[in-house]
Amino acid sequence: MNAPALDVVGLSLTYGDGPGAVEALKGVGLRLAAGTFTALMGPSGSGKSTFLNCVAGLERAATGTIMIGGRALPQDETEATLFRRQRIGIVFQGLNLLPYLTAAQNVELPLRLAGRKVPRNTGRARLDQVGLADRADSLPAELSGGQQQRVAIARGLVTRPDVLFADEPTGALDSRTARNVLGILRGSADRLGQTIVMVTHDPVAAAYADQVVFLADGRIAGRMTNPTAEAVAAQMTHLDQLMPEGVSA
Ligand SMILES: Nc1ncnc2c1ncn2[C@@H]1O[C@H](COP(=O)(O)OP(=O)(O)O)[C@@H](O)[C@H]1O
Ligand SMILES: [Mg+2]
Repeated sequence: MNAPALDVVGLSLTYGDGPGAVEALKGVGLRLAAGTFTALMGPSGSGKSTFLNCVAGLERAATGTIMIGGRALPQDETEATLFRRQRIGIVFQGLNLLPYLTAAQNVELPLRLAGRKVPRNTGRARLDQVGLADRADSLPAELSGGQQQRVAIARGLVTRPDVLFADEPTGALDSRTARNVLGILRGSADRLGQTIVMVTHDPVAAAYADQVVFLADGRIAGRMTNPTAEAVAAQMTHLDQLMPEGVSA
């Protein structure tokens, strides 16, 4: 049997200490089979971004183990950075495209950072897969928001990572562009066997996934396979009501 693409056990993280401390994650465990597309949902402040930052090696949890593709995410920061470059793909808000590189150069950058050979036209070929071959030489500022997001996804996938983590990848897009981006993610799971974990607050976006994992107040609060937008929306309303007063934004 193949190792799970992601195997997280007992992940806890508290921000600050004393009376102002915030327990962002309270023993989160999650195992995902390779090739699956998972949506991570939960009320604002439930720990979604913290979880993603930890499993992507950008933030260190206080306790817990994180296995990616059968290997432990290193504790050491330098080693974790190397591990991330080799094995993890990231599409995060704030991780913007570099403005002085073309779309193709942005897509190729993770390969260069990982010290891999970059065959000619790699960036253009990857952009072709997200329908942007004709914009390969454009700078990010010359692209629309949706086009920039597609470049970011091509960049996240270029190393063929064990897991692609995406935090609200369609949050800033109109619904038609969002559907296009979600279709690209769905297609990479179906055609390439790409494992994807996507944080979203949108039930329609979540319905593109194979399953939804719900977080509430730093804990896993449920799981739904073969989600529909209606069922997800109903569950989210339920979770909002469960949140302590003042925690949900
Ligand atoms: N850097 C930080 N310092 C202190 N508290 C934080 C920090 N980041 C997040 N938090 C708190 O941790 C909790 C979880 O935040 P977050 O993971 O961003 O939630 P979500 O992404 O689900 O909205 C929230 O209460 C938030 O205010
Ligand atoms: Mg967040």
